[in-house]
Amino acid sequence: MLFALAKPAIFMLDGETAHRLTLAALRLAPASAPPRADPVLAMRIAGIDFPTPVGLAPGFDKNAEVPHAMFGFGFGFVEIGTVTPLPQVGNPRPRLFRLVEDRAVINRMGFNNDGAEAVVARLKAAEHRAGIIGVNIGANKDSADRIADYATMTRTMAPLARYLTVNVSSPNTPGLRALQDAGALAALLDAVLEARGAHRCPVFLKLAPDLEAADIDAITRIALDKGLDALIVSNTTITRPAMRSRHAGQTGGLSGAPLRDLAHQRLRDFRAASGGAIALIGVGGIASAQDAYARIRAGAALVQIYSALVYEGPGLAAKINRELKALLERDGIATLAEAVGTG
Ligand SMILES: Cc1cc2nc3c(=O)[nH]c(=O)nc-3n(C[C@H](O)[C@H](O)[C@H](O)COP(=O)(O)O)c2cc1C
Repeated sequence: MLFALAKPAIFMLDGETAHRLTLAALRLAPASAPPRADPVLAMRIAGIDFPTPVGLAPGFDKNAEVPHAMFGFGFGFVEIGTVTPLPQVGNPRPRLFRLVEDRAVINRMGFNNDGAEAVVARLKAAEHRAGIIGVNIGANKDSADRIADYATMTRTMAPLARYLTVNVSSPNTPGLRALQDAGALAALLDAVLEARGAHRCPVFLKLAPDLEAADIDAITRIALDKGLDALIVSNTTITRPAMRSRHAGQTGGLSGAPLRDLAHQRLRDFRAASGGAIALIGVGGIASAQDAYARIRAGAALVQIYSALVYEGPGLAAKINRELKALLERDGIATLAEAVGTG
C-alpha cells in the first residue's frame, strides 16, 4: 500500500538514488523477527531450517545494514553481500538502470561494498537476533590473489554466517567468471573449504546463467566431489534477449523478467546433471508465486528475489508465500518439500 503510493516518486529518481533512499528508510524501521516456520512451506537444506522458502537475493543489502527490516516483510532468509576483504567503491555511476518496460534491471555496480571489517561489526551487533543471514563473498578487483581473498573472507565470515555463498558469477569484476572453469574452481573450493576450518558453516556456490552444457557437467561434478551444500542458479546474464527499454544496450548484468526463462532452464540443467544429489536455490526473474512454484518443481528447494521487488514492492515475499500455499492445495500436495523436482 505504502509502496503503491511512493512508487511514482521513487521512479522519478535514478535507480541508485532510489535504492540509497530505500535503504535509509529501512534503517529507520524497527528490527523484525523472521517469519515463524510455516508447517507447509518450511524447508530444510544444508542442516538449516528455513521457516519460509523465499529469500532476499544479494545485492540489495550488500553491507548488512537492514537484514532485520527485511525479515519483517516475510523473507525466510537474507543473503547479504557481495562482501570483499577491503572496501571498494565499484564502477563509476551511472551503473544501475531500470528497464521499466521490460520489468528488468541492468547493473554494473562492480562489488561496491564497505569491506569485511565494517560488515563483521554489523553482523556481530545483530548476532543475538534470530533470522538466517547468509554471507555472499567475493574478491577485490585489484587483488593479486583472488583465491586468497575468498579464503580470507571464509575465515572472517564463517563464524558469523549461517551459510556462505562463493560468488564466482558476477559479470562486473573482469575475469571473475573464469573462476567457474574446472581447474580454477577446484582450487578455489579447496581453499575455501580449508579456510572454513572447524566452523562447519555450509558453503553454497553461485553460478552464472551463461554456461555451456560441458561447464554445467564439470561444475556439478566438482561441487559433488567437494561436498558443497547447495548451488545457487543464477546470477545476472550478459546476454540480451529482445527488449524495448532505451537502456537495453547498457553494459552489465541483466536481471528481472527477461532473465526468467534462461535462469529456469539453467536450474533444470543443474538438476539433470546432479540428479538431485545437491540442493539447488533458484533465482532470476521470479516475480510471482507461479514463477517460484515452477522453479521449485524444476528442482529448487528455495528461491531468492531481487529485481521484482523494484516493480512489485517489498510485500512480494509474503504474497508469494501465501499464494504458494494455494497452489499446493490446488495440486493436492501437502508440503512444499514434496513438490521439489516434481516436474
Ligand atoms: C543492483 C544489483 C546488484 C547485485 N549485486 C549482486 C552481488 O553483489 N552479488 C551477487 O551474488 N549477486 C548480485 N546481484 C544478482 C542478484 O542477486 C540475482 O542473482 C539476480 O539479480 C537475478 O535475480 P532477480 O531477477 O530476481 O533480480 C545483483 C543484482 C542487482 C539487480
